Amino acid sequence: VSGKLSPLLKIQQEAVDFYHRVLLTTKAGERGMQYAQKRELNNDILEHFKIGYAPKEDNVLITYLRGKGYQDDDLAESGLFVQAKDGRLFDRFRDRLMFPLDNEHGRTIGFSGRRISNDKSEAKYMNSPETPIFTKSKVLFHFAEARKAARSEGHLVLYEGYMDVIAAYKAGIKAGIASMGTSLTDDQVYMLRRITPNIIVNYDGDDPGVHAEERAARMFNKDGNFNLGIVVLPENLDPDEYVKKYGTKKYQEEVSGALTPTDFFLKRLAQKYNLDNDREKITYLAEAIKEISQVRNPVEQDMYVERLARSAGVSIDSLKANLARERRRNN
Ligand code: UTP
Ligand code: MN
Ligand code: MN
Ligand code: MN
Ligand code: MN
Repeated sequence: VSGKLSPLLKIQQEAVDFYHRVLLTTKAGERGMQYAQKRELNNDILEHFKIGYAPKEDNVLITYLRGKGYQDDDLAESGLFVQAKDGRLFDRFRDRLMFPLDNEHGRTIGFSGRRISNDKSEAKYMNSPETPIFTKSKVLFHFAEARKAARSEGHLVLYEGYMDVIAAYKAGIKAGIASMGTSLTDDQVYMLRRITPNIIVNYDGDDPGVHAEERAARMFNKDGNFNLGIVVLPENLDPDEYVKKYGTKKYQEEVSGALTPTDFFLKRLAQKYNLDNDREKITYLAEAIKEISQVRNPVEQDMYVERLARSAGVSIDSLKANLARERRRNN
């Protein structure tokens, strides 16, 4: 570690401990604690994820860290403060529930703070800006912990949000990680590649979430080293909301019932066409055959062809003829 990185990492760790202590032990933290309770975050969860609270005032953390002897140039570089025109530093995160963001070794490199007020003009989550130690596109929430759990659970489960990883954790799925929004990056895919080929994607059940699952599936497939499962939750629910509404057991069933990418794409396709209309149905079948022709395993390919034939009421032989033609076209 270079001479510069070490104070930056130390400052993040000080902030983790500070925000966490404020949440758990102070009067100022009661607001945060009320919100944590509303979101059903018990003490085990607050401990495991080192969740904290940034108070309303704009000078609490800066005062604390100066008091501990940290220098203003390091503090300014930490991303935890905003700098006024005259150079003065103020706490960036105020009145937010604080989620530490860790690197792959479990060291905190930045934060995301959830708004707890109802003021919709404020961003729901505020993140650390890019710093010498924090690059958001290279971070996966809960990665350092999840990679350990992946050894026994046999896979990693990819979510959009912090609260989803936490809901999964409470449901016994400890190998949950979050891309922190819907745009998965190549760097994140590369991080996962070294841990396990078995990835289950469980983004939010709303339209942006399902579109992002499509995109993620294409990225994982392009890499070629993954064995994917895709969960699509009903009623636009995200995993946190789903667990609250239907409970842990139902949620675990959703995860074990994850679709193969091909099944997922075929289902999406079927929704795009009016299958009572012959012309649309022909287009649908052509698109479906294209999708199936990408499958490398012939047994798996057969499975989809047979299912498609049955559901569309056409012969397996005719679909297989089209599939053979499609494969010749691909080569
Ligand atoms: P969602 O909008 O689905 O939020 O964004 P959520 O995770 O369900 O949050 P709650 O339950 O309302 O608290 C998914 C993820 O996208 C990132 C966060 O990582 C969030 O968890 N995000 C979202 C931001 O970084 N900033 C935002 O303003 C919103
Ligand atoms: Mn979402
Ligand atoms: Mn759509
Ligand atoms: Mn969500
Ligand atoms: Mn949510």
